[in-house]
Amino acid sequence: MNEFIADYQAVASDGTLVTDGPTRIPVVEPPPGSDIYLEAAMWYWRPVLRLQRGAEYTLHLSSLDLNHGFSLYPLNINFQVVPGYDYGLRVTPDEAGEFHIICNEFCGIGHHTMVGKVIVVDGTSAESDSESASVADAGGDR
Ligand code: CUA
Repeated sequence: MNEFIADYQAVASDGTLVTDGPTRIPVVEPPPGSDIYLEAAMWYWRPVLRLQRGAEYTLHLSSLDLNHGFSLYPLNINFQVVPGYDYGLRVTPDEAGEFHIICNEFCGIGHHTMVGKVIVVDGTSAESDSESASVADAGGDR
């Protein structure tokens, strides 16, 4: 995970590494077609993923501690994230915008604050035209 962030963290025009929010979660811009990683733990999702619309990625979801639930709003995409498993999901974002990741599995006192973010930007390879992100399940459906 730290290697993934180190390789692809977004860099601002002044050369600083881009982070998001008061908790300074790193913002990562992985190349289209790559494996991308999202870590769940009490009580955050890390990193913030900035993806290109129309590009395909393999999303690896993992939990560092206990069960969390991945919900992508406003899209109706839900997965349970159980520690010890690596879920590989093929994702092709086809709508630009900011999406929030909500935890839908009670995980303690900070559960309701466990909100992450996915940013989808218009890329050069946009070719899909449907209304919402599509996810082909490669395992991990609850
Ligand atoms: Cu993580 Cu609730």
